[in-house]
Amino acid sequence: MKTLFLIPALLILSTGANAQSDILHTSPHTHTAEKRWYSPQDAQKGQQVFKQNCAVCHGDKAQGVVKDWRAELPNGKYPAPPLNGTAHAWHHRLKALDATIQRGGIPIGGTMPAFKDKLTRHERLQAIAYFQNFWSDKTYQAWLKRGGLKP
Ligand code: HEC
Repeated sequence: MKTLFLIPALLILSTGANAQSDILHTSPHTHTAEKRWYSPQDAQKGQQVFKQNCAVCHGDKAQGVVKDWRAELPNGKYPAPPLNGTAHAWHHRLKALDATIQRGGIPIGGTMPAFKDKLTRHERLQAIAYFQNFWSDKTYQAWLKRGGLKP
């Protein structure tokens, strides 16, 4: 008798979860060993977004386009840093990464354009998934530990 009652309850629960499904709730996948917040599909879709909007400055594979991203340019600005886990990006929570992409760097004296009106939240998260997919598991774990997924 108990099981008969449980089955419909489970069905309702799973449909509810699907209806709410957002990129952040897609089932985590195995990168090499660790689970990630995005799916391989998110990262793949993000490649397109990244190529069209970000690669010109950050490099096709988010590796950066200059030899030394820490070296000031002649105009006093800084080049676009790599986003592949070799620079700072992993110090920032997902929310902060998204905020940077929305606002760009111009309000803080930098040169990155704002994408607030150019990309949807979904597209921005896909772009983040794309560059995070280059992070080693060690870097990803360090990011999680710093509160990467905390609000
Ligand atoms: C015109 C060049 C340019 C484009 C296009 C560009 N960026 Fe940037 N980005 C920069 C620069 C330069 C910085 C460093 C801050 C500054 O000077 O604005 C930066 C910083 C960042 C940071 C912060 C990194 C850190 O280590 O703190 C993130 C995240 C980022 N960009 C993501 C993106 C994404 C995603 C896109 C595409 C949607 C994009 N950028 C497009 C030039 C660019």
